Amino acid sequence: MGLAAAFRAPVVGLDVGSHSVKAVALRQGRRGWTLLAAGEMPIPPGEPLTQDQVGETVGGLLDTLDLHRAQIVSALSGQSVMVKRLALPAMNSADLAAVIPSEAEQYVPFPLEDVQLDYQVLRRRSALPAGALDVLLVAARRDRVAERLALIDATGCRPVVLDLEAFALANAYEVSYPRRCDAAAALIHVGRGATIVCLLENGQLAFTRDLSVGGATYLAALEHELGFEPAAAHRALHGSTDGGGHGVSPVLREVHLRLILEIRKTLDFYRSTAAHSPVNRIVLSGGACRIDGLGALLDAEFQTTVEWCDPFQEIVRPARAVGSDLDGPAFAVAVGLALRREGDR
Ligand SMILES: Nc1ncnc2c1ncn2[C@@H]1O[C@H](COP(=O)(O)OP(=O)(O)OP(=O)(O)O)[C@@H](O)[C@H]1O
Ligand SMILES: [Mg+2]
Repeated sequence: MGLAAAFRAPVVGLDVGSHSVKAVALRQGRRGWTLLAAGEMPIPPGEPLTQDQVGETVGGLLDTLDLHRAQIVSALSGQSVMVKRLALPAMNSADLAAVIPSEAEQYVPFPLEDVQLDYQVLRRRSALPAGALDVLLVAARRDRVAERLALIDATGCRPVVLDLEAFALANAYEVSYPRRCDAAAALIHVGRGATIVCLLENGQLAFTRDLSVGGATYLAALEHELGFEPAAAHRALHGSTDGGGHGVSPVLREVHLRLILEIRKTLDFYRSTAAHSPVNRIVLSGGACRIDGLGALLDAEFQTTVEWCDPFQEIVRPARAVGSDLDGPAFAVAVGLALRREGDR
């Protein structure tokens, strides 16, 4: 490592979730990526935290990991952003930039002045006519962008990239499994408040949708169906039987089936929009992807390979690095963000 690199502020992938805040810092060297530090700080359950409280949690986590003056890469998801894939006639880049706002107007559910637009021309899809452009359009709510940037500023760190969680997931997967070439793979990231579904075609993100089922849905079902207190529901969800193992499995199974139905509808919708190959791999991530029985039920429903994403797969984890023993799937977004560098698109 050169001297300049030693003094450069570390790049930190920061995943601000509703269950916890997660941070990952990586160093890129000649032989690949090495973990510098990773960790998680829980968001206290109960009433949603204010921005200031979330900022304090983020600051606390960065302090614990000794990541000061960091360059922060974070992401938005859910209602703050919208992603739409457009098929447009062939045109030069200036004309494309000019038509994007009118295209966006048709799909973005907010006034255009309230959103920040971005787009990327994808590698061409064979289903499109020759010369046509395959464009991924992104709209992010300006108020949510400003809120996130202010949160990071308040920690004394510098925001350098604001990404989308779905893109971070696709990025983490691509880097972790570089030799994969599935015609169609589904990344399913089950968080607390939502599940993000990403469909990759030949490794390229082609479609994403958020589903409203997440870890919170399972907890609510355990409380509602079995009368569990929140703490007992949490213990039962996390696989501890002292929360009262009796009757837990059927309740979890019911929620699994709801989630699987939503996934099925999403994949069917996607296939109905063009001639797409059937999904030949399902890759699970997110804190709630390990809930007992989900993998087996997905396997039975889709009859395809179901596996858990290890976003640290291609990352060297020295034993001395803080967080080198962390379990991977929950960190998929944070790792995908930590792999980005200022100026990346
Ligand atoms: N070992 C485990 N077994 C079962 N469920 C778990 C386990 N670990 C975490 N969870 C559940 O996963 C959810 C948290 O997932 P995750 O950390 O991905 O959420 P988040 O990113 O903070 O939230 P958001 O959905 O807002 O992005 C919680 O509902 C938690 O109860
Ligand atoms: Mg999350």
